[in-house]
Amino acid sequence: MKDEVVYRNPVPEDAEEIVAFYNRVGGETTYLSFVENEYPLNVEEQKANIISTDQQPNSVMILAIVEDQIIGLGTITSGSKIKARHCGELGIVVTEKFQGKGIGSELIRRMIEWCKSNGITTKIQLDTRKDNTMAVELYKKFGFQIEGELKNTTLIDGKYYDLYVMGLML
Ligand SMILES: CC(C)(COP(=O)(O)OP(=O)(O)OC[C@H]1O[C@@H](n2cnc3c(N)ncnc32)[C@H](O)[C@@H]1OP(=O)(O)O)[C@@H](O)C(=O)NCCC(=O)NCCS
Repeated sequence: MKDEVVYRNPVPEDAEEIVAFYNRVGGETTYLSFVENEYPLNVEEQKANIISTDQQPNSVMILAIVEDQIIGLGTITSGSKIKARHCGELGIVVTEKFQGKGIGSELIRRMIEWCKSNGITTKIQLDTRKDNTMAVELYKKFGFQIEGELKNTTLIDGKYYDLYVMGLML
């Protein structure tokens, strides 16, 4: 049977599971900016983040849930400064077991639609490791273009990795 995926915005009560999710997936992949148990927010900070994101007209978090468990998560984070508030930074992760099933695509589709309708966001940007082929192809599928490269930005076990800076004009 196909897993039924529910997509919804978080409520403060989700904070504990969101922090646990991030800390777990940090250990599943080297493509995130943090390693296992290195997610920078604790539960109280995540609760505050959920409330403040909900109050910002140009930031959003969308959870992907299967059988009451968070299995994926997408974020658009934007500032409030007049000159930069039109740019949203996209973040996304789907837990290993559920990758390749279209969940990342659906999260991105929903985030793009949300940005188009918020009346502020006109550009979505992100950076991703150059060797993260799946993510790069996924972003290109939605029209993101490579705008530049950042050299030696990530260091893992003594090896440096470059990042692509990618952007989508809405
Ligand atoms: C990147 C990530 C979010 C994608 O989520 P997902 O649910 O697995 O993605 P989907 O199944 O919706 O999309 C797969 C898309 O990736 C691309 N893709 C999949 N497998 C691929 C492969 N072997 N080679 C190249 N591209 C591939 C395709 O564009 C594909 O779309 P299509 O099926 O319509 O052709 C997920 O793999 C992930 O969380 N990875 C680890 C964390 C991460 O890298 N986050 C992004 C940091 S910038």
